[in-house]
Formats: sequence, C-alpha cells, structure tokens
Amino acid sequence: MILKPSSSSLCNLETLSPISSSLLHYSRYRRNGVVVFAKKDSNSSHRLSSTTGVVFEPFEEVKNDHFIIPSVPQVSLARQKFVDECEAAINEQINVEYNVSYVYHAMYAYFDRDNVALKGLASFFKESSEEERQHAEKLMAYQNTRGGKVKLQSILMPLSEFDHLQKGDALYAMELALSLEKLTNEKLLKLHSVKHHPSLHCFICLHS
Ligand SMILES: [Fe+2]
Repeated sequence: MILKPSSSSLCNLETLSPISSSLLHYSRYRRNGVVVFAKKDSNSSHRLSSTTGVVFEPFEEVKNDHFIIPSVPQVSLARQKFVDECEAAINEQINVEYNVSYVYHAMYAYFDRDNVALKGLASFFKESSEEERQHAEKLMAYQNTRGGKVKLQSILMPLSEFDHLQKGDALYAMELALSLEKLTNEKLLKLHSVKHHPSLHCFICLHS
C-alpha cells in the first residue's frame, strides 16, 4: 500500500537514522509510534508503508548507475567494489606462488638425478611445486570471480645445483624451502593487509 500522508500528518514526522545500506535509498520516519519507510528522493506518491511490507523495489533500484551492465567487451560484467590496488596485489601474489613453484620444481629435478637419487626428497619437492601452482590458480580464479584481470609476470630462473659444502644438498634444500615458505607467508600477510576488502580477507583465510 502506498502511503499518502496529509500535510498535517507530515508535521508530526520525526526523522530517524537512515537505513545503513547506501544501496537502499530509503529513510525511516516515525509517525505516531509507527516506523514508516520512504524513498529519500521520491515524491509523496512513492512513499511506502510498513503495513504493506514493501520496502524494496528491485526494478526501480537497478536503474541506479551502479548497476548498469557494461556493454564494452573489455570490461568485466561482474566487477563491483573491486579496486585496482586489490587487483594488482593479487597478481603480485600469483607471481610469488609461481616463483616458489618453479624453485621447488628445480629441486625436484635435482634430487631425481641418477647421481643424486634422493627419491623421497624429489617426490616431496614435486608435490610442493604442484601445491604452489595450485595456490596461484586459486588466486587466478578469485581474480576472475571479482572481475579483475590476471596478468602473469616474469619469473626468475631458479638454481639448478643445490649441493652445499658444509650442509650437503638435502639440508641446504630443506632450509631454502623453509625460508621460501616464511617469505611466501609474509607476502600473504601483506596481501591480507590490503584495506577494505573483506571478501579477499576471507578468501585468504580459507585457502592459505
Ligand atoms: Fe603458496
């Protein structure tokens, strides 16, 4: 039911705080103890009553500029409240994951050599390499879900020899791997600190 208050009844209206979501263009008023919802920029013919239960007009609200579907093919259809800073930080982390994956893959190849032949370590680093690649792919999927663009960057050529005079190759490789894990964790924490992106924070917590 549309509420059409008379000029006299409007005099008694007491403005309450606006509804928290800025997407809902309604204000609340109290009239004789009854809360009334009304569109902020509407004329009196669009005022809505709590007695009808109608507080949301989707076909009116999607006319807002925020909800216009882009027609340019280069622009994501899904992107909403996803800033460039967040997009760039995700691409940076994808590069970190790929770099670490590449190093672990090099370790796998080293320990799989016939003259090194530490098959357990080779298998461990192969799995580690695949795991880091999966991390990169999850970030890619999130980037695409949010309407960002994945931009792969260069990765450094890793070492191919992991022998160490004092430590030997196995200890040296494991220590290097531990350092890389700590570094990757630091980078993830940095990504997590990107402000105003609660869904990204949730994503990192769930997948790291
Ligand atoms: Fe990772």
